[in-house]
Amino acid sequence: MESKLKSADFLPDIPVKELIRSAMEARKKAYAPYSGYMVGAAVLTNELRIYTGCNIENASYTPAICAERTAIAKAVSEGWRKLKAIAVVGGKKGDVLSQYAFPCGVCRQVFREFADEQFAVIVAKSESDYKIFSLSELLPESFGPENLK
Ligand code: THU
Repeated sequence: MESKLKSADFLPDIPVKELIRSAMEARKKAYAPYSGYMVGAAVLTNELRIYTGCNIENASYTPAICAERTAIAKAVSEGWRKLKAIAVVGGKKGDVLSQYAFPCGVCRQVFREFADEQFAVIVAKSESDYKIFSLSELLPESFGPENLK
């Protein structure tokens, strides 16, 4: 998938601050007793609905799910399959957000399934300190639904 979006582009139709705020709120619900790393995500559908998610760990470790995929599962299971953007925040429990929380590879592949060409990935430390990436920057030369047609 080719994307014209560049990191520095301003995206007038994406409520960046609201998405970051929603991701921060969702992060408070993270269930991460094993890693202590709390993540929140907020996804924006093409219809401008916001779905949030947090990471949910498990005593058996491998069933853990990332915040981004929790949010996307909520949106898709409610019937919203076209996604415009996602905001992600993460850090150790109790810490200030000192790093950008980049989505893992599995989550990037899940974005690929439901992203439109302008899909924006917002990684944030605060409402005013964030970076925006296109999916082709984070997942170049990717495999997607078109490959199976
Ligand atoms: N995690 C996420 O929620 N999103 C990511 O993109 C990377 C990792 C979670 C999974 C696990 O609960 C914790 O962070 C540590 O890996």
